[in-house]
This record gives sequence, C-alpha cells and structure tokens, in this order.
Amino acid sequence: MYGAGRVSDDSERTAFRTAEKKYKLYYNNDTKSSKREKQPKQVDLSEVIDFKSVLDSFNQNGLKPPGIIKLQSDFNYPVFCLENRPGFYFIPEALSIEEQCHWIKESLRSFPQPPNRTNHNAIYGPIPDLFTAAQNKKVFVEVGNLASDGAPGPYSGGRNLESKWQFCDGTVGIPRGDSSKSIAASVLLRKLRWSTLGLQFDWSKRNYDVSLPHNKIPEALCELARRMAVPAMPTGEDFCPEAAIVNYFGLGDMLGGHLDDMEADWSKPIVSISLGCKAIFLLGGKSREDPPTPMFLRSGDIVLMAGEARECFHGVPRIFTDTANAEVAPFVMHLSNQDDLCLMEYIRSSRININIRQVF
Ligand code: SIN
Repeated sequence: MYGAGRVSDDSERTAFRTAEKKYKLYYNNDTKSSKREKQPKQVDLSEVIDFKSVLDSFNQNGLKPPGIIKLQSDFNYPVFCLENRPGFYFIPEALSIEEQCHWIKESLRSFPQPPNRTNHNAIYGPIPDLFTAAQNKKVFVEVGNLASDGAPGPYSGGRNLESKWQFCDGTVGIPRGDSSKSIAASVLLRKLRWSTLGLQFDWSKRNYDVSLPHNKIPEALCELARRMAVPAMPTGEDFCPEAAIVNYFGLGDMLGGHLDDMEADWSKPIVSISLGCKAIFLLGGKSREDPPTPMFLRSGDIVLMAGEARECFHGVPRIFTDTANAEVAPFVMHLSNQDDLCLMEYIRSSRININIRQVF
C-alpha cells in the first residue's frame, strides 16, 4: 500500500517510475524566480485518457476511443472499462457538486476526528476538532509533559513521558516558556496526509489492527460505496465497507505506485472517490515493468478496482492546483457562505481521495 515516502526508490527505473517522473510536478530551473513565482514545467498530457471527453463524445455520437469499453448495464451512471485491465471501472461525474461539497466537509471536519487516526497521531497524539481550530485561527501548543499515567513531567520519576498539546487562541493564550513548542492549526490542517475510518490500518505493520479503537464507517458513506460498487459486483453479492483511507493531497504531493493488497478478498472492489483538484492517476499492470495507463481524475469521479485490477500497481503522480487546470471553479459558488470559506480556501489547492474497502 502506501510507502512511507509515498514514492518508489528513484534508482528503480521501471516503466511505472518513468511514467511517474514524466507527470510529476517539476519547476523550470529559473534561479531568479522567487518560490511563489516558480513556473511548473510543461508536461505533454496528450496520452492521458480524459474520461470526461470520452463521456461527452459517447453521449454525442456513441463513439469511444480504442481500448475503452462502455459497460452495458442498467446501472444509473455510465461506466467505462479498459480492455486490457479487467476489474477496473471508471464512473465519470458520479457525484453531484452538492454531494462533492458534502464529502469534502466530512473529510475535513469529521473523518480526522478521534478515534480515527491520522498521520498526526504519531507526533501529537489524537487531535480533536482540527478543522474548527484552523478555521478559528487557533495555535496548537505543547503545554508540558505528562507521564503516561497522567502525572506532570517533572514529578514523573523516570516514567514514560508523553507530550501534551492543546489548542490556544492565537498568540494570546500561548503559555510562556522557552521550551514550549507551537504550530498553527492551519499548518497542521495543511499537513494532514491521511485519516483512517472503520478498521484502523497500521502503516508500520502494513496490516489492519482490529484491536485499535474505532467507529464504524458512517452509514451514509457505506450506502454510497455499496451503491457505487454495483458494476464491480456482477453476481449481486453484498459489498460490506469495513475500512476507508482518506488521502489528502496538497501542491506537489504525489502517491507513489503501490498495490492495495491487505484485504482478504480481492474480488471485492475498492471504491475510490475523487474530490477537489484534478489529478493524474496511473494504472499499471501486475509488475512495475508494465507501462501504466495515465488518466485524469476529477472531483466527483469514482473508480472501482476489483478482481485482476486489485493486483495492478497504481498511483497518483500529480495534482493540478493552478487555476487553469485544477477545475475547482464550481466550488466557488457552492462554498461561498462565511462558514465555508475555510473549506473553499483548502480545496482550491488540494485534492481528497476517499477509498473504501471490505477487509474480510
Ligand atoms: C490509492 O491508490 O489508494 C488512492 C488513489 C487516489 O488518490 O485516487
């Protein structure tokens, strides 16, 4: 699944790695430009499949490019497959803009809430209400060490120390003292990389740790996943969502080629929802040596990976945060309330992916 560094070793020049490097964000080497003015290097996107255009031209004239199949079914949405990748399904524009806004809000407000774990747990422990704290311009401050039994640090008599952090009001409430560390909640929000729902994934052991405290995946998300999984469940069995990983991408972030191979039954799909900025997704084969197929993922698209496609390397080498390519304009209208400005600010330069799995 997800390597710690999120990209594969630079020295392994596999076909997958070559494609990652082709699409990754690089800047022109102009030493005079300041960081803000740096210009992204142009990249040739002519080979990237654009399922939005595929859908538009299919709707207009019934035609589709070679290698792309339109699934014949009575499913409510058009679904496309790739001839050479059985088990892969692409549902363009599966979510309305209202649904996208709803899931963006959930991804930022609810999904990182304890007991769900995030990448911040390892450093700070559980952080409740991170989004609200960022919205209210709070600062997260280390207020001292506690022994694991709760005794303050200086009196802990050599017992294990845990640092204790709390949100304070900007600079006003920050306790004075040379040793206290602090970080703005808005920075922590920007540094959010993943959160896990339902059964918690242990990244160090690369396994689900069923002993970790967890809540069930919210029923509305289960219902959406069950509904969207139907094209990949032709025999009509049930899809039972048990775990989800939410990935948060900012400018320059990528997700290196990997397999999602920790679930027991690979015939069950992974339902993968894209929100926010447009991205490039690479779908490779069973070996990193197989040249991957690049495709755009837009907000509202849903991808299913089941059966043989579960054995295929895949990753996200690029998200587009520039105005011309990010395609986040619809959010401006739908997230224009005062309350939503922080969400708007976040999503105009970010992408969120929610992928939902049946584990057992
Ligand atoms: C994943 O491969 O696990 C996530 C893919 C995505 O971000 O669309």
